[in-house]
Amino acid sequence: MGIIAPTEEATYRQMHHILEHLIPDFEIREKARLAYRINRLKKEKNAVILGHNYMEAALYHSVPDFTGDSLGLCQMAAETDADVIVFCGVRFMAESAKILNPEKTVLLPATQAGCSLASSITAQQVRDLKKRFPGVPVVTYINTYADVKAETDICCTSSNAQRVIESLGTDTVIFLPDQYLAGNVAEQLGWKMYFPQDDADGSKQPADLKKTVIAWHGACEVHELFTPADVTSVRQQFPDVTVLAHPECKPDVVHEADFTGSTTAMIKYVEEHQAEEYLLLTECAMGDNIISEHPDKNILRLCSHRCPHMAEITLEDTLDSLENMRYEITVPEDIRVKALTSIERMLEIG
Ligand code: 13P
Ligand code: SF4
Repeated sequence: MGIIAPTEEATYRQMHHILEHLIPDFEIREKARLAYRINRLKKEKNAVILGHNYMEAALYHSVPDFTGDSLGLCQMAAETDADVIVFCGVRFMAESAKILNPEKTVLLPATQAGCSLASSITAQQVRDLKKRFPGVPVVTYINTYADVKAETDICCTSSNAQRVIESLGTDTVIFLPDQYLAGNVAEQLGWKMYFPQDDADGSKQPADLKKTVIAWHGACEVHELFTPADVTSVRQQFPDVTVLAHPECKPDVVHEADFTGSTTAMIKYVEEHQAEEYLLLTECAMGDNIISEHPDKNILRLCSHRCPHMAEITLEDTLDSLENMRYEITVPEDIRVKALTSIERMLEIG
């Protein structure tokens, strides 16, 4: 919701209440100073701040008007009547907000906030796949850039991938670019996988592409690092642990988990259950965000695996972004119009 407080001191007190178990007091004071200025500027400029669940705890709990997963933030971006959207997330998310709101100013506080999935495929590669598999619908994960979305029939996120595929009513899809999300969805559907990248001359292509996910070798650089051995080791130390894995994890890791879902689905699961401990197989900052709101929950996470892109977004950068109106996201109009169709089709499914 963002902190609504009349003074810097009041902002500090509210932040201290949420963050005292997590962050040293002197740091909360410094961050409260920044948060107070950001929230004031936000009002002056009629701006809205959207914050992904992976934002660091002090930012997450102080300045976003809405926090959520990729789908939730996309829905919020589609509904806002603010003049300015500051996206505390990564570039592809800010681009989606711009695609939905061409008349608004969309700002990303750090230019470097990319994504290994989004950079794993180009629009030309999608066009080549469409030529090779004419008539097969293309589903792309929201973690792609605008020109890739423009070549796509429909987008999906980690929370609706299976529903999106089922909505197409076909038994073959091109699903890009996350090979592990594709693998997890293929398992749920009971379909096989085929990677045309490994088969340039088509000699390994199944004779029948019915019930096939045609996939791509993209991966999230964070989630691909988790292994079944990580889960085994934690289960040995904490026999009652409940393991939650994001669907960008490899299928053999998801098999070891008790629950798999988007970042928001994972948060909800922890809030609604009473386990001894929870192991979160996702970006570590999300564990901090849950702990600060629920100090009674025992959250375990493997913090050696971090998303360098999400970590680019700080309170300092967010303040700079609003003060200097940077870095503005633009999308060429011909690409935007085509990409919009694929996002709107997804939003209809929800
Ligand atoms: P969700 O928040 O949609 O689950 O996605 C996670 C992610 O890695 C976004 O970059
Ligand atoms: Fe991309 Fe993975 Fe970082 Fe999400 S966590 S932004 S999918 S690299």
